[in-house]
Amino acid sequence: MEVVPLRSGSEVAALAADVVEAVVRSAASPVLGLATGSTPLPTYRELVRRHEAGVGPSYDGVRCFNLDEYVGLPAGHPESYRATIARELTDALGIPADRVHGPDPTPEGLPTAGSRYEDALVAAGGVDVQVLGIGTDGHLAFNEPGSSLGSLTRLKTLTDETRHDNARFFGSIDEVPRHVLTQGLATILRARHLLLLATGSAKADALGAAVEGPLTASCPASVLQLHPHVTVLCDPGAAEGLVRREHYRAVYDAKPAWQGL
Ligand code: PGA
Repeated sequence: MEVVPLRSGSEVAALAADVVEAVVRSAASPVLGLATGSTPLPTYRELVRRHEAGVGPSYDGVRCFNLDEYVGLPAGHPESYRATIARELTDALGIPADRVHGPDPTPEGLPTAGSRYEDALVAAGGVDVQVLGIGTDGHLAFNEPGSSLGSLTRLKTLTDETRHDNARFFGSIDEVPRHVLTQGLATILRARHLLLLATGSAKADALGAAVEGPLTASCPASVLQLHPHVTVLCDPGAAEGLVRREHYRAVYDAKPAWQGL
């Protein structure tokens, strides 16, 4: 795992955008894994800014897979993750809706949604780079504490902590769905490069546990320790809980340029 403590959230966004753009430029048929939540928004805005300035890569042929989705929202609800990703990123990049995939939360589709999503990911050749955030409770995507480290895409129930955290996107906590479809931890581990973004001191404890704590289902994000290519980009607030943060920064500063991220 490569941990890169950065000086600000805008440095996180700029470097994350560099990583995503490098994949889009180099992969023959790029597949992006996209997360929602507040953390990736500055990165998405940076990608859109560069695209609109004419300095980004071509997004022709790019396919996207969303990490998760609420269950129980009316179709087209602005807080559904399908609508959020379209609004915040893919529409502005000119990626057509039929190239942006998400698990199917409809009542009729729900029983088979997990296996169909797994099949779609395999058929696409897997995810080249997966953008990730981390929950204050250590969740990864919507894999809450206790999630199997070997889990695949399936229905999950949110913790009260996550529903409380996400109430800011809704009118009240009562409007936050209880159920979600989420890629499993083993699904996430199949992506070729995992890019975890963490900003703000509210994430410090969870990030410290994920990076430096034991591998445990009690901190689902600790499963990242099993993956051969993980990049963690964090700002000073999120890095507060990392005992070895100065070492990580020294490693990054001394890194040969040819290694990239
Ligand atoms: P946030 O959520 O980016 O809105 O903090 C992260 C997450 O829940 O994974």
